[in-house]
Amino acid sequence: MQKIIILDFGSQTTQLIGRRVRELDTFCEILPYNKMPLDDPDVIGVILSGSPYSVYDPEAFKIDLAQLRGRYPILGICYGAQFMSHTLGGRVEPAPSREYGRQHLTTIDLANPLFQGFELGSQVWMSHGDTITALPEGFRCIASTETVQFAAYQAEGEPLWGVQFHPEVFHSVQGTQLLRNFVVGVCGSQQDWSAASFVETTVAELRQQLGQDRVILGLSGGVDSSVAAVLLNRAIGDRLTCIFVDHGLLRKDEFQQVMDDYKVLGLNVIGVDASQKFFGDLAGVTDPEQKRKIIGRDFVEVFNAEAKKITDARWLAQGTIYPDRIESLNITGKTIKSHHNVGGLPKEMNLQLCEPLKWLFKDEVRRVGRQLQMPEHLITRHPFPGPGLAVRILGDITPERVRILQEADDIYIRALREYKVRLSGDEARRVLAAGVPAQMQDGEVEVSLYDQVWQAGAILLATVRSVGVMGDERTYEHPVALRAVTSTDAMTADWAHLPYDFMARVSNDIINHVRGVNRVCYDISSKPPATIEWE
Ligand code: XMP
Repeated sequence: MQKIIILDFGSQTTQLIGRRVRELDTFCEILPYNKMPLDDPDVIGVILSGSPYSVYDPEAFKIDLAQLRGRYPILGICYGAQFMSHTLGGRVEPAPSREYGRQHLTTIDLANPLFQGFELGSQVWMSHGDTITALPEGFRCIASTETVQFAAYQAEGEPLWGVQFHPEVFHSVQGTQLLRNFVVGVCGSQQDWSAASFVETTVAELRQQLGQDRVILGLSGGVDSSVAAVLLNRAIGDRLTCIFVDHGLLRKDEFQQVMDDYKVLGLNVIGVDASQKFFGDLAGVTDPEQKRKIIGRDFVEVFNAEAKKITDARWLAQGTIYPDRIESLNITGKTIKSHHNVGGLPKEMNLQLCEPLKWLFKDEVRRVGRQLQMPEHLITRHPFPGPGLAVRILGDITPERVRILQEADDIYIRALREYKVRLSGDEARRVLAAGVPAQMQDGEVEVSLYDQVWQAGAILLATVRSVGVMGDERTYEHPVALRAVTSTDAMTADWAHLPYDFMARVSNDIINHVRGVNRVCYDISSKPPATIEWE
């Protein structure tokens, strides 16, 4: 299958480049800058990403361009462009001030293949400390902004381009067009990577790989494991056994609802209510890490006990997705993200790993889910932490506290689903690109607040009490904090700016209907320095 290779020099936006290329129905792989697969015959083009380094940093990542030139079309983005210019005889210098933010292309060579369909004045997003001050011999400037003379260049007569702006970010309004010009126009992508083709080829591959074997899969109610299950079910029917463990720390009624959804989807699911065991082991535990350890351990015990009953199983399937596996680099060049895995299945079970979604980004998983005709509420469900509400109750966990939090959370989440907002511009494009099922009309889309945010939930501050008054009575109860964030990958997140009238209504509803809560706060912390979850 045709593919684009994106060599990662450590930029925060490298994954975004990958997502944009996939949105052009073209398969791509993101690899560390020094792992170019030179013997892969399917590669049709190479993109060099940005980097936190300057080309002059002694530790800056370098590659041998001679291995790529003449073999593949190349597009350098930001550092990628500066690195090529610097290495091939041009000049790169610190910019008088950091070039950051929106700029407009005031000159463009509209005849250049990279700028087909562009409009003069097109907005682009810059973010760099250095700038190119002279191009290598035989290179030609093909676009400028008011302050950046060499915003884009091409090596004369060669399929090698550099752009100092970031076409992958939303603020570069025609960025996707530029990437399309490179990926489709120059590299010749046939654009045959789609959800439908993915389902077709993956089902065929799974049948081939698994034969008559039996497979076990741990379901969480989340989109990744659910889509993996439905895909496997398509391939091998009820030779797939799914295990869904209820630790008693799910959202209100969630276990039953998700079990019902799975039944409708025809999945062979064993639901295990292990809440008593979890509550017993968590009693009196207040330390967040301790809670996580206990839940992780209990989960493995319960899962294993069920898995062992399926004595002829040969495979363990997981909903691992591509961002879980990309080796992202940090500034030291060390890999900072390691693969999360369902830990500790007994060795004697001798299971092989099957990860049918391992090449997909989250939005693609959702597209595949739609292709498989899964219900929309399963596909657009917010991420939810494995330890569940345990990490959203400060202090020790009791069934009563879980009940209070479930009620408050339920009011909040329902209200988020009901409240509709109209978005335009960058925001509208962001939610559409994330796969939210909405139509653009007159430049606007209508979505629920639930679909607008990445994740939301309520937190019970069970270690805090405050005074209130209800009717004529003094109350002395716990506050609930509400959290909602926008994000693309949960690595960074911003608190969502929810409408005041919405917050006022939810606050009233919670205080009036949830016994045990007399105050509601809204968490206005970003990540970093805060995290999304409180514990
Ligand atoms: P933080 O709190 O680290 O969360 O900003 C980032 C994302 O990860 C989710 N999360 C977890 N997911 N097991 C999970 O499966 C966990 O232990 C866990 N802790 C946090 C969190 O909900 C957010 O989406």
